[in-house]
Amino acid sequence: MLRDQDRIFTNLYGQGDFGLAGARARGDWDGTKAILEKGRDWIIDETKKSGLRGRGGAGFSTGMKWSFMPKTSDRPHYLVVNADEGEPGTCKDREIMRHDPHKLVEGCLIASFAIGAKACYIYIRGEFWSEGNNLQRAIDEAYEAGLIGKNACGSGWDFDLYLHRGAGAYICGEETALIESIEGRKGQPRLKPPFPAGAGLYGLPTTVNNVESIAVVPTILRRGAEWFAGIGRPNNTGTKLFCISGHVNTPCTVEEEMGIPLKDLIEKHCGGVRGGWDNLLAVIPGGSSVPVLPKTTCDTVLMDFDSLRAERSGLGTAAVIVMDKSTDIVKAIARLSKFYMHESCGQCTPCREGTGWMWRVMERMVKGQADIGEIDMLEEVSRQIEGHTICALGDAAAWPVQGLIRHFRPEMEKRIRDRQGVAAQAAE
Ligand code: NAI
Ligand code: SF4
Repeated sequence: MLRDQDRIFTNLYGQGDFGLAGARARGDWDGTKAILEKGRDWIIDETKKSGLRGRGGAGFSTGMKWSFMPKTSDRPHYLVVNADEGEPGTCKDREIMRHDPHKLVEGCLIASFAIGAKACYIYIRGEFWSEGNNLQRAIDEAYEAGLIGKNACGSGWDFDLYLHRGAGAYICGEETALIESIEGRKGQPRLKPPFPAGAGLYGLPTTVNNVESIAVVPTILRRGAEWFAGIGRPNNTGTKLFCISGHVNTPCTVEEEMGIPLKDLIEKHCGGVRGGWDNLLAVIPGGSSVPVLPKTTCDTVLMDFDSLRAERSGLGTAAVIVMDKSTDIVKAIARLSKFYMHESCGQCTPCREGTGWMWRVMERMVKGQADIGEIDMLEEVSRQIEGHTICALGDAAAWPVQGLIRHFRPEMEKRIRDRQGVAAQAAE
């Protein structure tokens, strides 16, 4: 369990003032100038040493990503913060912007300085209206106090921060679609490479980071890389926000150490599974894009990137969706298939056609109106989508279906056999 003194988001539950006075009382903006004076290389090295891995879902090393930005360049550089939190089940960045926005604003200054960016855009999900207002207030306060803007914090570095509201498309959370959207175009992903570090916003060197990744940076640099690296497990370090929803007694967003057992997370912070642990059917451990896990795995699995990957799932956004035995698991995954079909931008054929195809077959699977052989065909189609598309939405649509087949095939087959039995009886 994470010790109270190791918590970064000390106002996660909104008990204090989210404004500048409250933030300063909690230690934000303390010694920011001194951090900047240590220089770009020190900030990037320290972030690498902390082991911080991107909190948006992919888990790519944050310090490494910053090091991809050109060191000497007379072209403008940009930081873009992805606050378009749209992954079903995920509501952690929302809490940061609602209750602790100054951590993000301070992090934007430090990260931008580290990558040589004098401007940063925070792209916030349009539905986060009041969170956007809280964040804008924090930005205004930081400007008024001289913490950002010309000669930010008295460091000699000029830095501007803009809030950009999205308009409700899930795909705009994909980093290159997000960049297209800021540029005023339709939010459609670009082919990578080139990665944004080479050609990003307006074709210029850009780093795109998640809200949580940026908001933890000031505390890491104040307390030291070793402190952060000492929490969690090797290669999976630090504290992490988990958002737990579904069939638990008290759904919540909570900060815990990486690698906490899933069972502890649910029992200690959410009052347990509705009806008790034995009533658990399955958990989606990292937002809707990662494969579902059956109870037997949930009994022991640890909540970090590597442990969940070893179980052929993923930490993703650390959005834990808990399903008890009352859940129609085939219907639940079919609903996700519908979501991905709806959100596909339509650029590439495997995703545009495949998501619709999978959803239609899944709908028949829900009712048992399929042949047993179609389960294999469904899996085969999902493999044709996975890895064959421009962006990760294709994979995200394929993985839940693959997880269902891997762990709940008997349930799918039983449904088809039951239906065939009913049809045969009716024919007699
Ligand atoms: P990715 O693995 O393609 O990239 C991760 C990051 O590393 C990107 O910023 C990319 O530009 C950078 N990168 C990777 N290789 C690089 C290289 N060789 N050179 C330079 N930069 C490099 O994953 P992606 O598409 O950014 O994210 C997918 C994840 O997003 C999914 O696993 C899912 O969990 C998560 N997701 C999160 C959502 C949310 O609401 N937070 C919504 C939907 C998905
Ligand atoms: Fe668009 Fe889907 Fe292709 Fe991504 S994978 S670019 S969402 S069609």
